[in-house]
Amino acid sequence: MDFGFTDEQLMIRDVARRIAQEKIAPSAEHFDRTGEFPLENIRLLGENGLMGIEVPEAYGGAGMDPISYVLAMIEIAAGDCAHSTIVSVNNSLFCNGILKFGTEEQKQLYVRAIAEGREIGAFALTEPQSGSDATAMRCRAVKRDDGRFVINGKKSWITSGPVAKYIVLFAMTDPDKGAKGVTAFMIDTAKPGFFRGKTEPKLGIRASATCEIEFQDYIAEAHEVLGTEGEGFKIAMGVLDAGRIGIASQAVGLARAAYEAAVAYVKERKSFGQAIGSFQMIQAKIADMKCRLDAAELLTLRAAWAKANADRNGGRYSTEASVAKLSASETAMFITHQALQIHGGMGYSKEMPLERYFRDAKITEIYEGTSEIQRLVIARNETGLR
Ligand code: CAA
Repeated sequence: MDFGFTDEQLMIRDVARRIAQEKIAPSAEHFDRTGEFPLENIRLLGENGLMGIEVPEAYGGAGMDPISYVLAMIEIAAGDCAHSTIVSVNNSLFCNGILKFGTEEQKQLYVRAIAEGREIGAFALTEPQSGSDATAMRCRAVKRDDGRFVINGKKSWITSGPVAKYIVLFAMTDPDKGAKGVTAFMIDTAKPGFFRGKTEPKLGIRASATCEIEFQDYIAEAHEVLGTEGEGFKIAMGVLDAGRIGIASQAVGLARAAYEAAVAYVKERKSFGQAIGSFQMIQAKIADMKCRLDAAELLTLRAAWAKANADRNGGRYSTEASVAKLSASETAMFITHQALQIHGGMGYSKEMPLERYFRDAKITEIYEGTSEIQRLVIARNETGLR
């Protein structure tokens, strides 16, 4: 691993930091309170190459590497976690799979619009009765004699579902084959047979719109299959490996924002005649937060480095991605909790962002594979046992 960053990596980090601090952070409270989708900010991120960071320039992206993606995501999440959720789904869950498994036509049509920030993408795997056990999906795609597929079923917890133009959908084409009976489809939400349910009211990341979606006799053309028939589960899992690096970065950025707020506060807040940062109990919290923040950041960069190797040479980076996501999300929970505690009553107040950081952190332990699933993936890979 190289611990130095290139000029290009630093440049995209700085662009992300500037937009995050000048535009996103000042509007975060508004979007959290109203639950509005921050379309204008997302367009601005798109215009600056941040909605398709690893997408080659030929498809409208910034043509950067996974390290650049991590550095930019950390900055955006430090500005606001909800914005970084939208960025991460477009970059990781949407663009990655199409770049790896899509045809030239699919890349030009779907990736370009999303990478340029003109449209929003989504990823539909979870269903009302199946989350962690993804192969238990019931959404069915039945192949007709003319080669088209008729899709029926529901998907839930779809990030950006209320605003997405295109969705990568996973549906069962052959239920008897389990994981090998899943196929991925490119969905255009403007076509007949696609419906959206109500937007979910959520504890945190409230500006990131989430809803249930439903397919009623939706017709997918043969050229709208992503990859090959039956390859869908592997596509979903491979894409989630990349996605988990995005969520790890998000957790690091959020944790950093909470940590920096805590360090500033302990220097200025006085108690018993001195700055609270001079008390050993507070010092211990600061030291523990710092160790966990740095460890999570390094593990996330290691995962990005492993992904870059895999992108060049093939192979998987599932363990590194799961280690990063597990460590960073639990770090975000720990640090936002400690930072809120350090702020006392002010931490609990909506006048400061600490309570929002705390609410936002929780999702990082749940979506794109719960902490329990990350432990399962890591332990299976380490032991070879199932
Ligand atoms: N890359 C490529 N292939 C993979 C893979 C990976 N990372 N992981 C598994 N596979 C392959 C396996 O090799 C296997 O293929 P073979 O039979 O040819 O060997 C096949 O997929 C099935 O694998 P498993 O037997 O391990 O499958 P499983 O049913 O035991 O499930 C699991 C494994 C880890 C539990 C998986 O189901 C999982 O990750 N579940 C969590 C799902 C998840 O993260 N959901 C989040 C929803 S998306 C979201 O949150 C989006 C959002 O909007 C923000």
